[in-house]
Amino acid sequence: MASDKSKIIIDNKEIELPVTKGTIGPSAIDIRNLNKENIYTFDPGYLSTASCSSAITYVDGDGGELLYRGYPIEQLSEKCDFLDVSYLLFYGELPTSKQKEVYQSTINGHTLIHDQLNSVFRGFRRDAHPMAVMTGVVASMSAFYFDEMDVDNRKHRKLSAERLIAKLPTIGAWSYTYSLGLPFVYPQNDLGYAGNFLNMMFSSPNKKYQNNPVLTQALEKILILHADHEQNASTSTVRLVGSSGANPYACIAAGIASLWGPAHGGANEATLKMLAEMKNESRIGDYIKRAKDKDDDFRLMGFGHRVYRNKDPRAEIMKITCHEVLNELNLSNEPLFKLALALEKIALEDEYFVEKKLYPNVDFYSGIVMRALGIPNSMFTAVFAIARTAGWVSHWNEMLSDKENKIGRPRQVYTGQTKRNL
Ligand code: SDX
Repeated sequence: MASDKSKIIIDNKEIELPVTKGTIGPSAIDIRNLNKENIYTFDPGYLSTASCSSAITYVDGDGGELLYRGYPIEQLSEKCDFLDVSYLLFYGELPTSKQKEVYQSTINGHTLIHDQLNSVFRGFRRDAHPMAVMTGVVASMSAFYFDEMDVDNRKHRKLSAERLIAKLPTIGAWSYTYSLGLPFVYPQNDLGYAGNFLNMMFSSPNKKYQNNPVLTQALEKILILHADHEQNASTSTVRLVGSSGANPYACIAAGIASLWGPAHGGANEATLKMLAEMKNESRIGDYIKRAKDKDDDFRLMGFGHRVYRNKDPRAEIMKITCHEVLNELNLSNEPLFKLALALEKIALEDEYFVEKKLYPNVDFYSGIVMRALGIPNSMFTAVFAIARTAGWVSHWNEMLSDKENKIGRPRQVYTGQTKRNL
């Protein structure tokens, strides 16, 4: 990476710092040795701080562009399936047909989970949130795969990544069917990644789920759109946990836990809940008013983004997918979709949202599509977690392959008591 210099002056002392430049995007002042000057930088929420260098995904927040290994998300969501994209994220290139055949067969070989893990599900109440169950069951995988696990061994990392990509749909679907008191439906590898998940979600021993290719294709697209997104909260969580050399299954469980929050991956469920409470267009103004009220901590769910200061390209694709699915199911008058369209139009014409550059994000329409697929609100973030596992394992692998990798240990500005005696 090209670099040049920067200078800062502190207490009349001039400190020269190198500037690191990536292939695209803003430069970064390399401050790692600043602590030797007994000074830190302060950036709660990391608004201006790069935690690492990465070659996996690039988000152009101003241009509203998302690239996975350089390929625009619009092209990948049109021309690829989810396993093509998970291969691309992990290895850096799309698979040849031979590589895809081997990869597909490897993933298929890992779709079952250890039979003893079934009892972990049974430790949860039936009405437990599926994200709680997924967090617990994925973390329990570290009790099955730990003895010869060496995270510094490239082959071990590849195996862990493939196990997780293969098993998350099974664990996700079973987290749902467990809540219904239904028997677990085992994976059927011939159905493809999205089709297999839908089958495990909606089949039962006495009723076969009829895969609809339009709906299956829509879910493949949803998984691709959610697969990765730079150093978001859950990916940064996986990197921080993984930086200590922790077991990969424990790392991904931590990522699932972080994704669950309504400010992050839980926003799709929260958006649907908000639209359902809003009921009709006559109440949109009340919600917009609340969103603008500084004394009200209500946020318009599915709107705004830390990086996108223009459209979220995923929201645009999701909106089109929404149309396709609703038309396929003769639901084009779906009230929630019409309400979402009206809310989006009104919000985007409101000076508050325009001035703060708040646009619909990936979570605004995804819930409506998933609900149309029959996926319950409580499972929206679980689907997000299944998709994001491809990104999480790729970042975990990239970090551990990086010779500069060190355990993550942020500093702080201490504001507590000075030293005192009892
Ligand atoms: C995801 O990081 C990623 O890449 C995440 C993600 C991924 O793929 O991993 O893209 C997935 O998490 C998408 C975001 C889903 N979350 C939501 O839809 C929840 C609603 N959105 C907000 O909570 C918020 O927009 C965030 C959390 C997404 C971003 O928050 P930031 O970057 O911390 O921005 P901020 O809170 O500092 O807001 C800046 C201003 C504030 O006003 P002021 O203090 O400047 O007056 O914009 C306002 C905020 O009050 N604002 C909103 C708003 N979002 C921001 N006001 C009303 N409604 C909103 N949704």
